[in-house]
Amino acid sequence: MTYFDKVLNTPLVENPIIMGIETSCDETAVAIIKNGREILADEIISSATEHARFGGVVPEIASRTHTTAILTATQRALKSANLTLNDVDAFAVTEGAGLLGALLVGVSFAKSLAFATNKPLVPVSHIRGHIAASYLADKSLEPPFITILASGGHTAIIAVDDYYNLNVLGSTIDDAVGEAFDKVARVLGLSYPGGPNVERLAKQGQNSVILPKMLKNYEGGEYDFSYSGLKTAVINYVHTQESKGAEVNKADVAASFQHAAVDVLIDKAFKAAEKCGYKTIAVSGGVGANGYLRDTLTVRANNAGIKLVLPEKRYCTDNGAMIGAEGYLQYKRRNFADLTLNAKAVVPLK
Ligand code: KG4
Ligand code: ZN
Repeated sequence: MTYFDKVLNTPLVENPIIMGIETSCDETAVAIIKNGREILADEIISSATEHARFGGVVPEIASRTHTTAILTATQRALKSANLTLNDVDAFAVTEGAGLLGALLVGVSFAKSLAFATNKPLVPVSHIRGHIAASYLADKSLEPPFITILASGGHTAIIAVDDYYNLNVLGSTIDDAVGEAFDKVARVLGLSYPGGPNVERLAKQGQNSVILPKMLKNYEGGEYDFSYSGLKTAVINYVHTQESKGAEVNKADVAASFQHAAVDVLIDKAFKAAEKCGYKTIAVSGGVGANGYLRDTLTVRANNAGIKLVLPEKRYCTDNGAMIGAEGYLQYKRRNFADLTLNAKAVVPLK
């Protein structure tokens, strides 16, 4: 019997222990999750500082770092959960979206663990993983709810109708919001990763620079976003001021950009909640770590009587726990891969 035949015949375990492996970008992350909601271990080894001097993630450096970090991260996770490899019931791994070479490290590693232990290999979408972080943040959370997906690669307002059905109400037609934070950081002379640095600088500034309203005359969907124009407006503003010899108050630029970038996400999320009649809004993705977004959402949700699910900042950015949480859902419906599983640079939002 082949590995896959054995796995296909394996009965599902009650309260399964799932290892979540994430290597789509610059974090090598391994976590162990019990029954989809309880974090038994959660290890992250980041190569962010190695990319900082290049101003962004260098795919080759990310892949090489994963190859050296993944075993350490796994051993640390098992040790801190006080488990052995044989205690793990399934190995969930990010299959995409992300950097191909980086993803391949996690996918190959997960395959070898699954093969060695004869346990299921569960492919997970990175985007669904981000959304599933909310199930770890609020153990009582159940769909339906609206999620604001705001990461470095994706921006969307999604109605999570049930655990498996995502209704994408709108998404960005160009850049993602995190990408805009990173590009604006560059023009302001801030280092990678840009988002947290823009946030830090914005705290010292005022929302005083007038930036264009997004998609003012756009005929497309009312939940869509466009961050390219906003980013260009910031770049043009800074360059025009500099060419006039005028002083640029970078903190004010950061604060104004942050307002423009975040307010629209919040407005559209509340509009979506009202339209769908959903009483909960959750946040997913790296930009969800932004303090201004978190504070503003908290106030708005209180005023509107909406329940807010804000994963800890650590679980907004890339981590293995979210892959374990989504892996649990996929395990429950026996979404098992065979050993031909490949990495995917792009996966559909759905
Ligand atoms: O979800 P994530 O860790 O990786 C992707 O799947 O893309 O998101 C990374 C993005 C980066 O663009 C980063 O600048 C942004 O999230 N980010 C933030 C903050 N922390 C991370 N953006 C704004 N404010 C933050 N505090
Ligand atoms: Zn991510």
